[in-house]
Amino acid sequence: MKTRTAWQEFFDGHAPNYLQNCFTKNTVAEVDFLIDALGLRAGDSVLDVGCGTGRHAIQLARRGHRVTGVDLSAGMLEQAQRAAQAAGVEVRWRQDDATSFALGEQFDAAICLCEGAFGLLGQGDDPLGQPSAILRRVEAALKPSAKCLFTVLNGFAMVRRHSNADVTKNLFDPLGLTELSDVQPRPVAGGGEMRERGFVPTELTFLFRTAGLQVLNIWGGTAGNWGRRPVDLDEMEIMVLACKAPDLST
Ligand SMILES: C[S@@+](CC[C@H](N)C(=O)[O-])C[C@H]1O[C@@H](n2cnc3c(N)ncnc32)[C@H](O)[C@@H]1O
Repeated sequence: MKTRTAWQEFFDGHAPNYLQNCFTKNTVAEVDFLIDALGLRAGDSVLDVGCGTGRHAIQLARRGHRVTGVDLSAGMLEQAQRAAQAAGVEVRWRQDDATSFALGEQFDAAICLCEGAFGLLGQGDDPLGQPSAILRRVEAALKPSAKCLFTVLNGFAMVRRHSNADVTKNLFDPLGLTELSDVQPRPVAGGGEMRERGFVPTELTFLFRTAGLQVLNIWGGTAGNWGRRPVDLDEMEIMVLACKAPDLST
């Protein structure tokens, strides 16, 4: 059997308490925003990458969308399944890695929120390769011209809160734009470092473009404070709205 990664182990343990985090408390307004920004129509199919306990997936399903949630953590998916049952909605859940999943179908839209898997790096993960692999999987899973929306950690804020002393202590790596995660409790079995990656808009535009996704907008995306507004240098997260190229062959 494949060894659980440190992030998988952390989220498996954290799953029963995940929805107590204050950043999860704005789901209904976030889903209003998603429907508008992604231009979703009733019945559209939506892929939720790093869906966690399914808070967006379930709310989208309640509004008539056909949703598939992918997550590495069995514990998070178990909570998601229970919540969907309690809400009386059907969502398809898949335990899989965002860097390598293949569902064999294409969706009308995709989301990857509160980082999802994007930039949550385990031991040996490449700070460029990991997000690029996720973007390639998302691109492959989208219909031509379909949109996707990501919220990712803000690299500007990461730089502004760290010092040269943090670089010396390996708390912050300016080459990979990663910081050592301070999640608690630290996993034991998966082992290895857990790092969180920040991103800046120019790099995001390049990463998305390289994966075949055109960035349409980059806005403020901190959980609880999403908005069509310029990125604030100190906010926790930024939002990327992008779309796949149209199919010009037909
Ligand atoms: C901070 S939670 C966000 C959950 C949800 N999107 C939300 O907004 O509440 C990050 C999620 O990403 C999942 N995750 C982390 N690395 C992953 C990977 N490589 N593949 C798939 N899921 C991953 C975790 O298990 C966790 O459920």
